[in-house]
Amino acid sequence: MPLDTTQDPPLDSGRGVIPVPRIAVIVVAAGSGTRLGRSTPKAFVGLDEHSILRHALRGVFAATAAQVIVVAPEDRVGDALTEAIEAAGDKRDLVSVVPGGATRQESVRAGLHAVWGDVDIVLVHDAARALTPPEVFARVVAAIDAGADGAIPVLPVIDTLKRVDGSEIVAAVDRAELAAAQTPQGFRRDVLDAAYGAATEDFTDDAALVAQAGHSVAAVAGDALGFKITTPADLDRARGLVTPLPAVTSTIGHAAVVPRVGLGTDVHAFGGAGDLWLAGLEWPGEPALSGHSDGDAVAHAIVDALLSAAGLGDIGTHFGTSRPEYAAAHADAFLARTLALLGEAGWRIGNVSVQVQANRPRFAARRAEAEAALSAALGGASVSLSATTTDGLGFTGTGEGVAAFAVALLVPA
Ligand code: CTP
Ligand code: MG
Repeated sequence: MPLDTTQDPPLDSGRGVIPVPRIAVIVVAAGSGTRLGRSTPKAFVGLDEHSILRHALRGVFAATAAQVIVVAPEDRVGDALTEAIEAAGDKRDLVSVVPGGATRQESVRAGLHAVWGDVDIVLVHDAARALTPPEVFARVVAAIDAGADGAIPVLPVIDTLKRVDGSEIVAAVDRAELAAAQTPQGFRRDVLDAAYGAATEDFTDDAALVAQAGHSVAAVAGDALGFKITTPADLDRARGLVTPLPAVTSTIGHAAVVPRVGLGTDVHAFGGAGDLWLAGLEWPGEPALSGHSDGDAVAHAIVDALLSAAGLGDIGTHFGTSRPEYAAAHADAFLARTLALLGEAGWRIGNVSVQVQANRPRFAARRAEAEAALSAALGGASVSLSATTTDGLGFTGTGEGVAAFAVALLVPA
């Protein structure tokens, strides 16, 4: 059944008129996956060449035109955004990523804060249930549309169940009374908001939290493919069942057949410690710029231009203050990571042009060296650099800081 996930009036997003979603899906992916036992957080472990999260998002986007909020580990927000934009295709305006919390419940709460005002049904879905078919989403929404405060997919319990006390069986349990709960779990938005507002203890799923708040929750048919990848055996099973995703051709929802340009600027003030780093070069004896990392405004402007051209957010998305590994990094680390992101998204660099406005350092003698350093960090891409002073005007003219302006051209890989 096709889902009516939108309501009038339409919203002009600035990129054409898209309808305002009446449904939001919170995809919780912030867990570490202790029981899976990998060093990578579970949602970022591969099922094939794509991650668990990416496959989970395929199911979400196939099911709905809802607002989609991915809740990711704090140090994976940028990676999750890349995955979400790719999975969203032409629905990328509907996607956002927020950092999660210490428990699943705290992660859902973080996602709830990002739900848009117009939304009146919220679905909470485990990224770990990566193979959940779109029909399950439709059944949950249909139950809420039919009047339920909440609805969850369930499967009958197959095994005969016993109540045990240590190693002793103390009772048989009638499995006809029991069901295994899956996700997506859907609720009226006001019900879920109020239940989260009132929650004082930790529950393992949202239905339990909503039930504690005094609401009844309906059961709809789940699906065997909606199992949760928890243990290494579950991962093997999912890998055997997964169907390949269509090849990624673009991060912007259209076939990457046309080049794209991007613009980036950056400004840093003098006043940092040590020697100056600018345009990928160390400048002994020159006053240093201040900033998170080395204050290399030229490199940062280039990163913004490249990410903007690819539609992959900006430098804060991928290298924000929550990524301490970049605090002491120089241009080569920023540019190499940016190049990798572009490659994953199906782009290669046509060329980069950057201009720095500064009284000092004097670039004339080292311009070619700077171009070579920046080019090397970008896998040999063409980088041209020009430098200018501003006739004593503005903050660059008074020598308070430097400014850099970059444009980049990307072409399909
Ligand atoms: N989850 C989350 N934030 C947490 C814990 C869990 O967003 N603090 C998410 C997980 O990413 C997963 C879903 O909640 O998609 C279900 O949790 P579970 O399968 O238990 O995942 P993990 O907590 O990562 O695994 P484990 O319990 O084995 O550590
Ligand atoms: Mg867990």
